[in-house]
Amino acid sequence: MGPATQSSYVTALRFPFLTRFYDCVLAATIKEEKFKQLLVEQSSIQPGHRVLDVGCGTATLTLMLARHAPQAEVFGLDGDADALAIARKKIADAGAQVTLVQALAFEAPFEAGSFDRIVSSLVFHHLTREQKKQTLDKCRELLSKGGELHIADWGRAQNLLMRTAFLGVQLLDGFETTTDNVRGVLPRLIEQAGFESVQETRREATIFGTLSLYRAVAP
Ligand SMILES: C[S@@+](CC[C@H](N)C(=O)[O-])C[C@H]1O[C@@H](n2cnc3c(N)ncnc32)[C@H](O)[C@@H]1O
Repeated sequence: MGPATQSSYVTALRFPFLTRFYDCVLAATIKEEKFKQLLVEQSSIQPGHRVLDVGCGTATLTLMLARHAPQAEVFGLDGDADALAIARKKIADAGAQVTLVQALAFEAPFEAGSFDRIVSSLVFHHLTREQKKQTLDKCRELLSKGGELHIADWGRAQNLLMRTAFLGVQLLDGFETTTDNVRGVLPRLIEQAGFESVQETRREATIFGTLSLYRAVAP
């Protein structure tokens, strides 16, 4: 069985047949370009860095990382073969240098301490509490000393309007994996995985709720 066939696995828009529409839906509904650009800039990638995009999906963020830091070595990992097929085509069309790997986030097949930056966008709300912990443990293991984790995902709702708007995401992606996000639990889980200087660096109001950016450092 491929990784994406696990019973708890949530593909980009919940139902596999919708994956082909993912890029259009995202571009039309939330401030995708803006928050991904903020995440890229926040990641402060240096020439020679090894960078991993966990749950890269169709590789929009991965390509932005590769363009922003052409002298970095950029990897994208995702469990879904369909999303990776779209990613592969986009990367080839762009003539970019990105290595794609199909694997579950918490089983990422890389050597310990082999990355300087790990970046992830809109993935943690697809993971159960246990998978979130396992994935953060894996990120901690894969980062070198002083390496940084940068995450963008649904965060604690800023107000009742944002909490209500997030019900749309919860109805689509399920309550089990999304509730920790909207309750603002992610920073605590990042700390529990052994990261330091954990910060929520930014909050953006969107039509689907509050999007948060986080930054943390591997000791
Ligand atoms: C909402 S999409 C986000 C894609 C991309 N990061 C973006 O911002 O456009 C979530 C992605 O996470 C992937 N994913 C979900 N659970 C995963 C897991 N356990 N391991 C690896 N990838 C996973 C899905 O296949 C999907 O491509």
